Amino acid sequence: MEQQYIIKGGKPLAGEVTISGAKNAALGILAAAIMSDETVTIENLPNVRDINVLLQAIADIGAYVDRVDAHTVKINGKSIHSLSINYEFINKIRASYYLLGALLGKYKSAQVALPGGCDIGSRPIDQHIKGFEALGAKVVIEHGMIKAQAKELIANHIYLDVVSVGATINIMMAAALAQGKTIIENPAKEPHIVDVANFLNSMGANIKGAGTDVIRIRGVEKLHGSEYSIIPDQIEAGTFMVAAAATRGDVLIKNLIPKHMEAISAKLIEIGAQVEEFDEAIRVSASSRPGHTRIKTQPYPGFPTDMQPQMATILAMGNGTSIVTENIFENRYKYVDELVRMGASIKVEGNVAIINGVERLSGAALSAPDLRAGAALVIAALCADGFTTIDQIKYVERGYEDFEGKLQSLGADIEKVDVDDEKSIQKFRLRVS
Ligand code: EPZ
Repeated sequence: MEQQYIIKGGKPLAGEVTISGAKNAALGILAAAIMSDETVTIENLPNVRDINVLLQAIADIGAYVDRVDAHTVKINGKSIHSLSINYEFINKIRASYYLLGALLGKYKSAQVALPGGCDIGSRPIDQHIKGFEALGAKVVIEHGMIKAQAKELIANHIYLDVVSVGATINIMMAAALAQGKTIIENPAKEPHIVDVANFLNSMGANIKGAGTDVIRIRGVEKLHGSEYSIIPDQIEAGTFMVAAAATRGDVLIKNLIPKHMEAISAKLIEIGAQVEEFDEAIRVSASSRPGHTRIKTQPYPGFPTDMQPQMATILAMGNGTSIVTENIFENRYKYVDELVRMGASIKVEGNVAIINGVERLSGAALSAPDLRAGAALVIAALCADGFTTIDQIKYVERGYEDFEGKLQSLGADIEKVDVDDEKSIQKFRLRVS
C-alpha cells in the first residue's frame, strides 16, 4: 500500500535526535564485505530501504547474510555461486554497481545490469570503466549488462577526469586485490570514501590516503574477516540541522562527526542560526527568520549536493535573495515546483536557482521527486501554515531511517498513513487542530 506523510506545520522542533549510520558508506561497505571468505560483522547499519535491497542482491548471488538485528549484519562471501547481479536489484538501487568492483577484485569477473537510481540527472559510469580497464580488465556493455573480466588485475596509475564517489569506491575495491601498487589521483574525498577504505583495511587491505588528493593501494592476496561500525550519516545529520533552524527550534543532534558538518554549519551560521559543536553532537537553534546567502555544491569538503534541496528550502523562507548553484547533478531542482505551490518564489535558470525569500509557506498536497528533495519538502511542510500531504515517500525511505518517528520525538506533527486511509487522516487532523 502506497503511503504518505501528513504534516501540520508551525511547531519549532525541540529536543534530541540520534543520527543513524551513513547510508552511502554502508552501501560501499556491504559490497566490500563479500570480498572475504571469512565472516564480516557490520554494525551501525542504517535500517533503510536501499540497504535492505543491497543485502537482498548480496544474498541472491549466494553470499551468507545474517541480519542479526535492525542495525547489525553478518556477511560471508565464501558461498557465492553467481557473479551476475540482476536488473531487478540495480533497477531499485544504483549502488548495486559496487558489486562490480567487489566481484571483479575477488573473482576477476563480474557482470551487473546498467544502473538506474534516483532521477537527478544523467549519471555516466565512464570513470568506473576507465579504472577497471586501467587495472587490466576487459569491460563490455552487452544486452543491458556491464561485463568486466580479467586474467589478473595489475596495479596502475589512474587519474579520474571527474571527481566521482562511485568510481573511487569501485576502483578502490578492485585494486585492493590487484597485484602491485595502484595510485588514484583526483579521487572523491567524502567521509564515506574514508569509511570504506578503513573498512577494507580492517579486512587486511593496504589503502593509504583516502580522504586526501591521492589514494595509494598496495594490493594484497586476500582479505580476512572483520568487525566494523559504520560512521554516522552526514546528510541525515545535516537534514536535521536545517530542520531545526528552519522551524526556529532548538535541537541537539547526537552521534555525528562535527568535522563532516563544517560546510553546512558555516552556511547555517551565515544565515543567522546558532550552531554549537560538541565532541559527537551539534546543537542548532534559531529564533528569527533566516537571512540569505549563496551556495555552490562541490565535492567534499565543499557544500554537498545531497544537502542542496534542504538548504534551498530554508532559504525560500529567508529574508532577501539567495543564489544556489548546483554543480554536481543537473536535474536536482525537481522539488522547486512543489515549493512554488507552497508559495515560494524560486526561479531556476540552468543549474542556478534564484530564491526570493518569502515570509511564509502554506501547506499543500505534494509529491516527493527523489530522496533528498523529499526530505526538503518535509522541512518545508514543518514550517508551513496548515496541513501538507507528501506522497511518493518511498524515496525518502530509501535513505532516512524512521524519519517521521525521529521528527515526532522532536515534537513535530507528522504521521505516515496509507494514502487512502481517510480515517487516520481525519484522526490526525482532529488531534493536532
Ligand atoms: C554518490 O553518487 C552518492 N550515492 C549520491 O548520493 C551523491 O549525490 C553523489 O555521490 C555526490 O556526492 C552513493 O554514494 C550511493 P558521483 P555517485 O559518481 O557515486 C559524474 C543520495 O541522495 N560522473 O560522485 O553516483 C556524475 O555525473 C545520493 O544519497 C561521471 O561523469 O556520484 C556527477 O556529475 C544521490 N562519470 C559527478 O560525476 C562517472 O563515471 C559526481 O557523481 C561517474 C560520475
